[in-house]
Amino acid sequence: VNHLLGIKYITKEDVDLIFKTADHFKEVINRPIKKVPSLRDITIANLFFENSTRTRLSFELAEKRLSADVVNFSAASSSVKKGETLIDTVNNILSMKVDMVVMRHPNPGAGVFLSQHVNASIVNAGDGAHEHPTQALLDSYSIREKLGEVTGKNVVIVGDILHSRVALSNIFALKLQGANVKVCGPKTLIPKHIEKLGVEVETNLRKALEWCDVANMLRVQNERMDISYFPSTREYVQQFGLNKDLLGSLNKEITIMHPGPINRGVEITSDVADSDHAIILDQVQNGVAVRMAVIYLLASKIKQ
Ligand code: CP
Repeated sequence: VNHLLGIKYITKEDVDLIFKTADHFKEVINRPIKKVPSLRDITIANLFFENSTRTRLSFELAEKRLSADVVNFSAASSSVKKGETLIDTVNNILSMKVDMVVMRHPNPGAGVFLSQHVNASIVNAGDGAHEHPTQALLDSYSIREKLGEVTGKNVVIVGDILHSRVALSNIFALKLQGANVKVCGPKTLIPKHIEKLGVEVETNLRKALEWCDVANMLRVQNERMDISYFPSTREYVQQFGLNKDLLGSLNKEITIMHPGPINRGVEITSDVADSDHAIILDQVQNGVAVRMAVIYLLASKIKQ
């Protein structure tokens, strides 16, 4: 397969190969000269139809550190605003000899749709509330780095599971690697039948934290939400917000993760987000090496 459209479509062997390759690139980007010449013959377009800070910059840095040629496209300043379709937009970009497309799009399935209609390698950088595969890979890579392995670890994903592509991709990735996964949040923000994915639901945050080795705290995605779904922010903070007192009362060490952007004081307080328990900036740093690995491995197939 010449795409990374979701964790649903890859295997444990793919994940192992991506992590082994990322280990090498992590060493490369810690050198004084952070670049390798591997992809001098590859051109990549980063298409962002939805806002992003981490993912957009991380992909661009990953591509540049592999020496690929890079063009960036933001829908807000493009001819999409004049009514041009997704397929026309991408085919016009590809006609300029582009080999690979990294795309973030608000619609679930946009990456799969594109892969069926254009002749390029597609990397999903987040499609609506569907999948965010590179985020899940960098999250698992960060757990592996911190705790030695992912297999057998207890991971709770806390918050707005219903609207979260990060949650879905993390569930697929963690289960693929043999982790135990629970989700925790208000019932209104947990999809019905999520147990079918092999995860347990826990609506009590304290119980979830007492069980876990790792807590991945998600943002409440107000932008994807019908207001009626949501408990009030004050209720959410009281029941599902992670603060220093709660963490300190557990009598155990847990690793705190967050994909960003953080709503400080809602799902997590600053004294937890900025504490030694949190690996939030390690996740961001690892994102570059993991994305280098994904792009390098896909590009090797293009070259064959
Ligand atoms: N984690 C993440 O996807 O962040 P951005 O939306 O800033 O890319």
